[in-house]
Amino acid sequence: MPDRLDLPAGFRWGAATAAYQIEGAVDEDGRGPSVWDVFVARPGAVRDGHTGAVACDHYHRYPEDIALMKDLGLDGYRFSIAWPRIQPTGAGPVNAAGLAFYDRLVDALLEAGIEPLPTLFHWDLPQALEDHGGWLNRDTAYRFAEYAGTVADRLGDRVPAWITLNEPFVHTVFGYAMGIHGPGRALMFEALPAAHHQLLGHGLAASVLHERGLKVMLSNNLTPVEPASGSAEDAAAAQAYDALHNRLFTDPVLLGRYPDLSALGVPDDIYGAVHPGDTDLIHTPGLDGLGVNYYNPTRVAAPTDPGLPFDLVDIPDVPHTAFGWPVVPDGLRRLLAHLRESYGTALPPITITENGCSVEESTDPDQPRIDYLAAHLDALAQAVAEGVDVRGYYTWSLLDNFEWAEGYHQRFGLVHVDFATQRRTPRASYAWYRQLIRVHRERFAK
Ligand code: BGC
Ligand code: BGC
Repeated sequence: MPDRLDLPAGFRWGAATAAYQIEGAVDEDGRGPSVWDVFVARPGAVRDGHTGAVACDHYHRYPEDIALMKDLGLDGYRFSIAWPRIQPTGAGPVNAAGLAFYDRLVDALLEAGIEPLPTLFHWDLPQALEDHGGWLNRDTAYRFAEYAGTVADRLGDRVPAWITLNEPFVHTVFGYAMGIHGPGRALMFEALPAAHHQLLGHGLAASVLHERGLKVMLSNNLTPVEPASGSAEDAAAAQAYDALHNRLFTDPVLLGRYPDLSALGVPDDIYGAVHPGDTDLIHTPGLDGLGVNYYNPTRVAAPTDPGLPFDLVDIPDVPHTAFGWPVVPDGLRRLLAHLRESYGTALPPITITENGCSVEESTDPDQPRIDYLAAHLDALAQAVAEGVDVRGYYTWSLLDNFEWAEGYHQRFGLVHVDFATQRRTPRASYAWYRQLIRVHRERFAK
């Protein structure tokens, strides 16, 4: 059986973070409010009322964090750019001080020998755009493309590859359908125009980036979907869920058409959001790489209550993370094999842009995280041996950080952060990852 050390020569080792989860400094240097600044102030929205106002204070401590990355031996670092630092109201004049932060960050990464891989949107929409409907408003897609051009004009000389969006599935469903993430809207299926407008924004931004000779990726949260039983009802529910979670976000980009959403009761034009020509705008620019964020598979049963066309059920008899997510490393291999089967030559090279788990703070050494990473990297190596083209792996996350609705409770970091003192302490998984990177690299150095 191939294992993680059999990953190919040139395989990129990385770690990932996102702006609102680590930066803090929400009122500094002209940054405007994002939907998350507003959402966290809503009573009960985030566990224990935590906010990202300070987070890991990375805005000021980035040199220390880059020193950790360098010590780890990372090839690449995935971070996100906060749109409200660049355009405080989401449109119009550029805030020079905001752009200058990312300029410094990129230079410091390059100086440390680490390739910057920025994501343009990781859920922190300028609140001023949300006040006009946010991603439910088609205009936001055009504003996004403008913002992409602005940032690329400044950083594109040093940053060759860009991720447009992070997980439009999670942002649509948690942020607009269920109201458990910012902007906190609970529209159920009528949230889906927000998915289309994000994809349209991706396509428009991809054209803007390609015009500048840059490479474009999209990071999707993908999950292998398995029916809870052999019954026809469970199979139908699983198919409907797969269309919603996975295919809605990959078919238009890779194939130029939306999957059939009729089992969900969603009209073909997604409640009038899809205009003629839109799927071409999403598909035609092409994708230079697909970012896959994998955490766990999803088991689906036929609905027990008539509210939704499916029920999500637990996967018993496997370990679960501190977050309660099932640990199924082979799900990653199956997911990748399924992508290759479904999309064939339309599938671009893959990069794992997130994978990791939260572990209880008191677990020392953090063996569950090491086990999780090791098993998922072995599954990844098996997928590669079976012919899937995977170029790199960015673990989530470098640091413990603001875990959205869970506040600071779920700790995903290779590095422990004491949020009272901002002290960073590398965990056992950090040492493990560093050693893996070193040994893998030495294998090909001979
Ligand atoms: C899912 C994960 C997903 C997460 C988004 C969870 O419920 O199990 O796969 O990444 O939500 O934060
Ligand atoms: C998101 C991250 C998040 C992680 C763990 C992904 O859904 O992109 O921002 O912290 O999963 O929930």
